[in-house]
Amino acid sequence: MNKIEKKILTSEFIKKKKISIKEDVDSIFVGGKEDMINFFSHYVYWNGVFAGCVTNLASNFHLFVNKPGFSGKTPPPEDIMTFFKQKGHKVAGLIFAAAEDEYADDSAVVSDLRVCHKDMAWHFLKELYTYYNKDIKKRKIEFFAEEINNAIMRGYRVDRGALCSDLYRGLGFHIGSEKIASFEFDYLTKKMNKEYPELVKFLKNKELVPGINAFSWLEVHSSVEEEHFGYALEAANIIIDYFDKKDLQRNPFQFIKEGFVEFSNLQNIFFDHYSGIEEVKVI
Ligand SMILES: [Fe+2]
Ligand SMILES: [Fe+2]
Repeated sequence: MNKIEKKILTSEFIKKKKISIKEDVDSIFVGGKEDMINFFSHYVYWNGVFAGCVTNLASNFHLFVNKPGFSGKTPPPEDIMTFFKQKGHKVAGLIFAAAEDEYADDSAVVSDLRVCHKDMAWHFLKELYTYYNKDIKKRKIEFFAEEINNAIMRGYRVDRGALCSDLYRGLGFHIGSEKIASFEFDYLTKKMNKEYPELVKFLKNKELVPGINAFSWLEVHSSVEEEHFGYALEAANIIIDYFDKKDLQRNPFQFIKEGFVEFSNLQNIFFDHYSGIEEVKVI
């Protein structure tokens, strides 16, 4: 574990977050197949905006010194401008690493097919509805989910790149989303295998393209999210190391941590809504 990981992901946080996800998912699944289907309809919806947000955040880091008006009327201090000139694109690349999989998943046998995770998610949901002989067009997406997705975009600081503190918070939000998503997908995959083995068998037989089936979306995310998290941490390290080594009086870590907490709280709100379990804040 590197120093940022240790500071953000205390063992107490990991333990509590995993328990809270487990309790939430268990509670959703206790409601039977209708609750499970309704949850996944909204879970697919909530996952639908992340790739665009990640791309936007990466771009904001890269263009911080170039975008007209980005630095506002008062230019940021010299050391910040120097940092972004020298390292903005490197940080951007490490954030963008998460988007690479999002827009072209590795599991496709024919790699230049560039299968998007959003298409994999949709294939999963479509086949889930087919299995239960339900009309996917009749599913209802609650207004709540739209509000949550707006909060995700705010968290990633889409359209807000004027201050470097915004970008640092956005990076913290991204770190949180990658790490916590790996916990979610991991448990959801296990839960589906355990509770709905026949459905899983059916989904695995519904190929989207060679190498990717209707269950792949759940399966791949337990591992890819860990990788994305690793790259996001490297991005945070570049920022923190730069300001630490030069002994500059900035505290980017505090902003990164705020973004991380913001995501964790938002994730609680989403899962609480579908599980009916009111959480105690975990960080
Ligand atoms: Fe994804
Ligand atoms: Fe990811």
